[in-house]
Amino acid sequence: MSTDNRVLVLCATGKVGKNVCIALKEKGFDVYGTTRNAKNNLEAKGIKPVVCNYIDKTSLTQALTSTGIKQVFMITDYFLAAKSKKALEIEQGKMIVDCCKECGVTFVIYSSAGDLESFNDKVHHIKGKIDVENYLKASGLRFGIVRPVAFFENLDDPANWNPLKKGSVKFLTECKVSMCATIDIGKAAAVMFQNQEEWNGKTVDVASWKVGIVDIYDIMIMIILLSTFIYSFIYEYHYFEIYIYRAIFMSWLQLGKR
Ligand SMILES: NC(=O)c1ccc[n+]([C@@H]2O[C@H](COP(=O)([O-])OP(=O)(O)OC[C@H]3O[C@@H](n4cnc5c(N)ncnc54)[C@H](OP(=O)(O)O)[C@@H]3O)[C@@H](O)[C@H]2O)c1
Repeated sequence: MSTDNRVLVLCATGKVGKNVCIALKEKGFDVYGTTRNAKNNLEAKGIKPVVCNYIDKTSLTQALTSTGIKQVFMITDYFLAAKSKKALEIEQGKMIVDCCKECGVTFVIYSSAGDLESFNDKVHHIKGKIDVENYLKASGLRFGIVRPVAFFENLDDPANWNPLKKGSVKFLTECKVSMCATIDIGKAAAVMFQNQEEWNGKTVDVASWKVGIVDIYDIMIMIILLSTFIYSFIYEYHYFEIYIYRAIFMSWLQLGKR
């Protein structure tokens, strides 16, 4: 690792960015994060905010030159920043790579997506990342790529389409899929930044668990039962029955939906 342990994380307020910042911080990095919003809560998490619109080359150049940071964790946001347009995400990704190169960045980690090649071309929302990966590989920059699979955070994502409600859990499919926590993307990134010689030019998949929605439901019920049990001992014993009945009722409701 370079003696300068500062890292600039793009999209630091998003699901991936925020947790990558936290994981890097826990591993001793001095973490800076970009956001367009001057009113952000990054400082409260020990992250130094850099007000920047990462899809604007002038703004990103200003962020890199004013801080002098040489290690970048790069995210391209398909849904919001690229307006759900594959071509725009590719264009923005290429611009970031060019900008890093021009500003003398010494190591870039790109947050791509897992199993990209196995999806057909109708899956626009992640396919553009292949072109960004290839552009980065050909750029001459020193780099690593992390390829996270579906996020556990999607299970509770009210900003998009899926709030986690009491007694119910839903997902796009009932098939078993590989999933990961976004904090694990940051843990992988920390290993790469700390061992740049070893990881230069390499790609790592980030996956924690191959799981179906029914398995997730079962785990949640286990947690409810266990926490109820512990709660009943810590506080008032007679609450135990009420909570058990509530948990059994919720289980019954869910079993009906299987
Ligand atoms: N969900 C999954 O299962 C999954 C799996 C693998 C890969 N991915 C990929 O992960 C990437 C990041 O996802 P995420 O869930 O972390 O995103 P997110 O939580 O929606 O965060 C979006 C980030 O983009 C910034 N942003 C939003 N609109 C913008 C705009 N118009 N111009 C510039 N910046 C803008 C926001 O920053 P400010 O508003 O603070 O500026 C925010 O930090 C996506 O490209 C997705 O394809 C997702």
